[in-house]
Amino acid sequence: MKLLVTGGAGYIGSTVVLDLLAAGHRVVVIDDLSTGYREAVRRVEQLAGQDVPFVHADIADAAAVRRALNGVDAVLHFAAFKVVGESMAHPERYLANNVGALGTLFGEMARAGVRRLVYSSSAAVYGTQREMPIAETAPLLPESPYGLSKVHGEQWIDWMVRCHGWSAVSLRYFNPVGAHASGRIGQPVEGAQALLPRALLALVRDDAPLTVFGTDWSTADGTALRDYIHIADLAAAHRHALDALAPGQHAIFNVGTGRPHSVAEVLAACRRVTGREVPHVLGPRRPGDMACATADPSRFRAATGFTADRTLDDMVATAWRWTEENPGGYGG
Ligand SMILES: NC(=O)c1ccc[n+]([C@@H]2O[C@H](COP(=O)([O-])OP(=O)(O)OC[C@H]3O[C@@H](n4cnc5c(N)ncnc54)[C@H](O)[C@@H]3O)[C@@H](O)[C@H]2O)c1
Repeated sequence: MKLLVTGGAGYIGSTVVLDLLAAGHRVVVIDDLSTGYREAVRRVEQLAGQDVPFVHADIADAAAVRRALNGVDAVLHFAAFKVVGESMAHPERYLANNVGALGTLFGEMARAGVRRLVYSSSAAVYGTQREMPIAETAPLLPESPYGLSKVHGEQWIDWMVRCHGWSAVSLRYFNPVGAHASGRIGQPVEGAQALLPRALLALVRDDAPLTVFGTDWSTADGTALRDYIHIADLAAAHRHALDALAPGQHAIFNVGTGRPHSVAEVLAACRRVTGREVPHVLGPRRPGDMACATADPSRFRAATGFTADRTLDDMVATAWRWTEENPGGYGG
């Protein structure tokens, strides 16, 4: 297929582009480089041994989206802002980019007759749940504007499917981590908010100790539990999602391992892999955070046969290789 990847210069998008090229698809990327890197796409081209057409534009730019959609069979939509805390400080930015821009993207898809979509949703749609693991049927209780933006995205997709007969799959990611095995593409640690890149930043920079947000959660060691999924497993999940697209259906799947790890366990894995203790300080909980989020990944497994089986140590080892070889991220 010929695929349009929005946000393909970002952490997840770039890894997925490489995976799709390796599977024989043709890929066009549209990205405004607001949080992504042109260099990431260049490295994907080097690793894949082929060119990737790149449209440097905002997905709210209708003419650019129209150009990018030329001859495309399906869209994988990653382009969005993703930082929970930032969304609490600037909810209007998240509304405009994560929800408002869908109007242009979906409008141009409808105009071009592109009716297949894979959407990056998030475990943030669930908020704090009583039942663990979390199934897709759980009530949606987002606790941040970011989480709400993903709920709205899914709901708009429902209507595009109902009204236009589109095929869509929404993947609710549970904490993607790790890097491509080559060590060439990954998530720059500088400025990253997620636990693992922040822990690795603390290892490469003396002045950036990690803050552990909350040690009083109702978990075994008091630190928050998350279901981490290796970026390589997540990339593979997108290929399976493309295969699962069915006309007139919007399928929603959790993508995680179903085996959560605490912050303390992640720090222990960092110690095992790097041989060093992550410098850290203990801090209070952040607004919008939750104690535990673990996927029930069985619906996706039943629909596609896919299982995410890479381990926490694999995740840390690839992320560490990428960070050691690219301490300045894509900048040098
Ligand atoms: N990384 C995570 O922990 C996580 C978890 C759940 C869901 N997601 C979702 O996955 C997707 C990708 O996340 P990521 O971690 O790769 O983030 P990222 O910031 O690395 O990538 C997002 C990419 O989208 C681009 N972008 C943003 N707004 C755009 C716009 N209006 N027009 C064009 N390009 C735009 C950015 O420049 C960037 O390259 C996002 O939708 C995010 O909400 C991420």
